[in-house]
Amino acid sequence: FGAALALITGYLLGSIPFGVLLTQFSGAGDLRKIGSGNIGATNVLRTGRKGLAAATLILDAAKGAAAVLLAAWLLPGTEHLAAIGAFFGHLYPVWLTFRGGKGVATLLGLALALSWQVGLVYAVVWLGALALSRISSVGGMSAAIAAPIAAAALGMFGIAALLLLFALMVLWKHRENIGRLLEGTEPRVGSAKRG
Ligand code: G3P
Repeated sequence: FGAALALITGYLLGSIPFGVLLTQFSGAGDLRKIGSGNIGATNVLRTGRKGLAAATLILDAAKGAAAVLLAAWLLPGTEHLAAIGAFFGHLYPVWLTFRGGKGVATLLGLALALSWQVGLVYAVVWLGALALSRISSVGGMSAAIAAPIAAAALGMFGIAALLLLFALMVLWKHRENIGRLLEGTEPRVGSAKRG
């Protein structure tokens, strides 16, 4: 019962589409009809509202962290299930007919809550790859790949296995971005309105 509760609570938290909600409430329109159509902070930035994009990034990360911390507090031992629920909730939210985000911000929160050291590596790789490439998807995918490697290097093999699953899902969700990267048409942050 505890396991199912952690999974479902995690899913419900993860499925809150902050990017869509904030964009809608601020009068900036339907995020799914803007830029890449993605519901994440990168696409909120394409509305020109930096504050909203920052809020989306923070809230999408916070919901992931909240799911894990809530499980650790109320149902110890179910943290990994809560993380799985939150991650898949963000990627496949029932409220958006399962067309959710790509997981990069939510995974930051999950990684930080599962292990702050792994979360730190994730954040550093994300910012580093983003600064070097100026391409959001490159930053996100690099961080997602680095996370399970960092966890394994730190001897946290359970977390590493979980993060490996999440990294594969992040890559799958970025398949269109990968296609654009190979074509050389993936936009740089702040340089294009279309994704
Ligand atoms: O986290 C999503 C980001 O990596 C790419 O977003 O809108 O450029 O597809 P977008």
